[in-house]
Amino acid sequence: MHKRIITLTLNPVIDKSVTVAGISPNTKLRCSAPKYDAGGGGINVSRALKKLGSDSLCIYLAGGSTGEHLKQVLDQTGIEQMVIPIKGWTRDNLAVTDTTTNQQYRFGVPGPQVEKEECETVLKRLEEYLGENDYLVASGKLPPRMPEDFYVKVAVIAEKKGARFILDTSGEALLKTANSHIYMLKPNLGELSALCGVESISALKLETLAKNFLAEHDCEVLVVSLGPKGALLATKFEMEYIPAPTVLQKSTIGAGDSMVAGMLVSLLKGKSFSDMVKYGIACGTAATMHEGTQLCNKEDADRLYEWIKRQ
Ligand SMILES: Nc1ncnc2c1ncn2[C@@H]1O[C@H](COP(=O)(O)OP(=O)(O)OP(=O)(O)O)[C@@H](O)[C@H]1O
Ligand SMILES: [Mg+2]
Repeated sequence: MHKRIITLTLNPVIDKSVTVAGISPNTKLRCSAPKYDAGGGGINVSRALKKLGSDSLCIYLAGGSTGEHLKQVLDQTGIEQMVIPIKGWTRDNLAVTDTTTNQQYRFGVPGPQVEKEECETVLKRLEEYLGENDYLVASGKLPPRMPEDFYVKVAVIAEKKGARFILDTSGEALLKTANSHIYMLKPNLGELSALCGVESISALKLETLAKNFLAEHDCEVLVVSLGPKGALLATKFEMEYIPAPTVLQKSTIGAGDSMVAGMLVSLLKGKSFSDMVKYGIACGTAATMHEGTQLCNKEDADRLYEWIKRQ
């Protein structure tokens, strides 16, 4: 049966990136011409998938002239889209790279309010569209005031339709949804700490916490991403720590989303979970090698994957 990838972005964003030579207060900072990218968890996953040569349907909420702009930017990528219109205006974020220090400053604003009927429309569309064996990726935060159990409802629909639900979110939405039926969960260390109700996690405790988490939750695959340290793969049957290659880090925007995209590409190819995480790490690491919001480049990812496989 043909497997499709569907990404869901409830709080998308127009990412505007500029560079500036030095940042100091009370002076006019002359920035470079802005570069615009469509962003937000699911959209980033769809963009990274495209760069890796895989198609997906990108479902997102958009409103106002910023929402129009977002759609225009996405049209240029050739990604198949399903826009769910909302009254509120899509947010726009700013990332400023100081070229004198190579440091990046990321300014984020909250997303628009989403009405109850608009939430209902999302669920209705998923109900209509999702099919058996599809991969549904819910990635990113919920917009402010959206019910924190919204992903729980999404998980219920995915299960009913026989689709595989992949969740990458944080905060209250993550805690609420963790008890749902989840195919794959990708927390980072901070998110796993919150899930386990602990302040921080030492390397020594990580495997035990992952094991306990799987014993207590209806989650098939847990991938804990560890930033420059790589990731831990945990299922009921396997536990493997996979280190990430060291690279010159330029921007970590979208590292997590590139990782999820890489893992999906491997899943579609029918690879093992171990290979899936290795390719995920390769793609996450590849995303850190370039400035701004470029996400992962396939050549870099493939090269890093070969390196990881040789270790
Ligand atoms: N500095 C780095 N060097 C090498 N690889 C990195 C680095 N940062 C991230 N990665 C790669 O990207 C993957 C995901 O990164 P990370 O664990 O930071 O996810 P995250 O916290 O969810 O990120 P995001 O902020 O994008 O949501 C890591 O598992 C690793 O493979
Ligand atoms: Mg993340």
